[in-house]
Parts: sequence; C-alpha cells; structure tokens
Amino acid sequence: MLKIGHRGAKGYGPENTLISFQKALDMQVDGIELDVHLSADGELMVIHDETVDRTTNGKGFVNKLSLQELKAFRINGKHQIPTLKEVVDLVNQYCFINIELKNYDTAEKVVSLIEKYVAKKNWKYDCFLVSSFDWNALQQVAFLNDKIPIGVLTETDLELAMAFAKFIQAKSIHPHFHLLTKENTAQMQEKGLQVFPWTINESEDIQKIKTFNVNGIITDFPNRI
Ligand code: G3P
Ligand code: CA
Repeated sequence: MLKIGHRGAKGYGPENTLISFQKALDMQVDGIELDVHLSADGELMVIHDETVDRTTNGKGFVNKLSLQELKAFRINGKHQIPTLKEVVDLVNQYCFINIELKNYDTAEKVVSLIEKYVAKKNWKYDCFLVSSFDWNALQQVAFLNDKIPIGVLTETDLELAMAFAKFIQAKSIHPHFHLLTKENTAQMQEKGLQVFPWTINESEDIQKIKTFNVNGIITDFPNRI
C-alpha cells in the first residue's frame, strides 16, 4: 500500500513548501501530491488556491502575479512558494510526484516539463502521475503525450470517473475516501485501475480504508500509514 504525502506532509509543515516536501521524503513516502497553478508569466507554481491570500502574506490571484512577485511573498514568515521545477529537483526521483492540475492552462506546460526530465535527465514517466478534477485537462495531457501516467480525481461520481478513466487509459483513480467501499475498490482494480483515495488523516479512517485493499493512501500524515 503506497504512502502518498498530501501537499508534502501538510500535517507537519506548511503545505506545498520545500520544507513540507522534505518532511514527506524523510518519512519515506512512495509519492508526494502537490497542486499547480500558472503565474502571469507562465511559470508553474506549486500552490493550492487560485489566490495567495490564505497561505502567504501577499494578496492576489496567482495568474495575475509574476514569478518575481510570487517569490517575494512568504509562507509562515520564511518559506517561498516553490516552482514545480524546484520541487521536482528536490524529489530527484526519490518517489513519484502526483501533480494535480488546478486548471486546464497548466496541462501543456506540465507535459513539457515531464518530457524534459524524461528526455534530458533520463527520468522514467512513472516518476510522475498527473491528476485533476478538470477532466478536459487530463484529456489534453493524454492527447499531448499518452505515456504520461494519469489519475482521475473525483469527489462525487465514481461510476462516471471509472468510465472516463478507462476511456483515457488512466493509471489510477483518486476518489474522496467517503465514496469507497471494499466492493467498488475491487471493481476499479478489476478494470485495471489503481485506487488512491484522499485525504485520509485520522488513524481510524486509515485502518478502515486499508481493509479495502486500496493501492495507496493520500494523507497529510504519511507516518500514520
Ligand atoms: O489530490 C487529492 C486532493 O489533493 C484533492 O483535493 O483540494 O486537497 O487539492 P485538494
Ligand atoms: Ca491537491
């Protein structure tokens, strides 16, 4: 059962920061999950919200601010918003990177970044897993490069997500854990899909979901898996 650190190790450090990803690596995760948005000047930034307001001392929409402006903000007084490249270099193939596309505009740049690491640095495609609630974005990734592993995110309709995942030949399906049963987990696996539910933090929930034999668990507390 794979241990996947949500926004790094959000339970132990500020989400989506290099320190949070380093903490997840220290906990020997199999994968880390992170979120990406584009800056105004087209840089892939690792941040969950469409604005910087909640997590930094700045204000404004990520896609209206330049890389330089975004880098000037601080998270918890000292950390910067990392670029995707900075996180990928930190991880350096130690575990796979589940890149969640927060919108369609990020798809093409994420594909290019992955292709660069595969072509120039000899990384395997399996070092990456691209997921999104925006299924058009996933379709665009599959259209641009069908070797990139894809994970279909859903918090509502598992049946539809399963059909779509088969349609685009996804590697995995990432349901909100409340949607899961032992039976539907087996059904997805029979269709060849790996099942990575999110975001499971309480030990009781972790124990219960483990009995469903999911393929991995996305959690803020990787050391609880
Ligand atoms: O990728 C799973 C999970 O991160 C999706 O929800 O809101 O935490 O990005 P959210
Ligand atoms: Ca996410």
